[in-house]
Amino acid sequence: MNILVVGKGGREHALLKALSESPSSPRLYSFPGSDAIESLATLVEADGLASLIAKMKELSIDLCVAGEESYLVKDEGLANACAAAGIPCWGPPKEGAQLEASKEFAKEFMNRQGIPTGKATGCATADEARAAIAGVYPTVLKFDGLAAGKGVAVCFTEAEAEDFLKEVMEERRFGAGRLLVEECLIGPEVSVFAAVSGDQYQIFTPARDYKRALDGDKGPNTGGMGAVASLSLVTKEELAQIEETIVKPTVAGLVKEKLGYKGFIYFGLMMTKEGPKIIEYNCRFGDPECQAVMPLMEGDLATYCLKGAQGELDRSLIRFKQGWSVCLILASAGYPVTSRSGDVITGFEQVEGASVYHAGTKKNAAGQWETNGGRVLAVVAQSEDRGSAVKQAYEQVSHLQFEGAQRRNDIGIMNFAPLKS
Ligand code: AMP
Ligand code: GLY
Repeated sequence: MNILVVGKGGREHALLKALSESPSSPRLYSFPGSDAIESLATLVEADGLASLIAKMKELSIDLCVAGEESYLVKDEGLANACAAAGIPCWGPPKEGAQLEASKEFAKEFMNRQGIPTGKATGCATADEARAAIAGVYPTVLKFDGLAAGKGVAVCFTEAEAEDFLKEVMEERRFGAGRLLVEECLIGPEVSVFAAVSGDQYQIFTPARDYKRALDGDKGPNTGGMGAVASLSLVTKEELAQIEETIVKPTVAGLVKEKLGYKGFIYFGLMMTKEGPKIIEYNCRFGDPECQAVMPLMEGDLATYCLKGAQGELDRSLIRFKQGWSVCLILASAGYPVTSRSGDVITGFEQVEGASVYHAGTKKNAAGQWETNGGRVLAVVAQSEDRGSAVKQAYEQVSHLQFEGAQRRNDIGIMNFAPLKS
């Protein structure tokens, strides 16, 4: 089986690792991939979607896996173009990927399907947004388009809201687009993932992402500074409620609205006092949640995704282990405002009993790994209990060093009961 994974980050590195461990032993390719991914997959060069499809045909690709989201909505859409070329794709068509690409589309879908979520108003201008906020803080402002995880601001004051409106609606940092003014939901956050193929679904191990740059959830939003995953992250009752009120109606809605969904779907949830409410959908696995979830999974992910892309979700192919997985991100100097490339990373050979996934690295002429982007590495450890997994992840991450490295010190600790010392 020939599989091509689209993407180049830590999530794709973890997906490719899991695919490479599949008993069906697929031959792996990646576009565009990275120097680290090259140890698992042959890198494919392409210039745009049409050229990528031509390459996939040339290589007799049996399955295309959408790691990252941007190609799902580019041009005619990755899955649509794969379908036209007769290549099964694990990732939704452009119509379904609107759930991530347009926050207004997603909100209207949730409302049509009666899925619990915060109240929201769509706005075309900064003035419309000011009217919708109506002086009520905190409020949440969301740019209605892809913004690499940076298009959302939780604003506690008018000054914060004004800064965001200026940047996004006046200076147009993310280009043209509308804005949602959304009710601020309170509660612990949980990321739930499901594999969806038509009307069939399977829920994966829940995870929690740490999006802010600094300890204690301070500092700016990032793509994610760490994650923790476990079947014990939510109670059985909570998971059943998430399934009944959110996952099932979403899958039923995707079928009813003929969105042709196949692939991973990500439910960003807030566990409010009134029950779980959805903050956002993403049409892919989370990054860095994927790096935490994948090591807790065993089975044949390759065949699972291929069959899923062909319309059959075979739950017997994969299993989820008990225990906890903790993923720590090492980011480069300046992240998330800027990033610094070219800092040499040392200590890989000292890491034991943890996985290291590369998000933003490259090999220099001397064969050393260097930083090459904002999020650089993910270090992931598992254990039966959360405390041991946290301890192991932090012990192992300390071996990896580069100039200006940043990380949080409270991953797997904040938003949980205190650990026994
Ligand atoms: P997003 O880019 O949609 O994942 O949002 C980034 C972060 O903003 C989320 O992980 C939440 O922490 C926060 N957020 C988004 N929407 C809301 C909301 N309605 N209420 C409270 N926090 C929110
Ligand atoms: N970890 C957040 C995301 O993947 O969007």
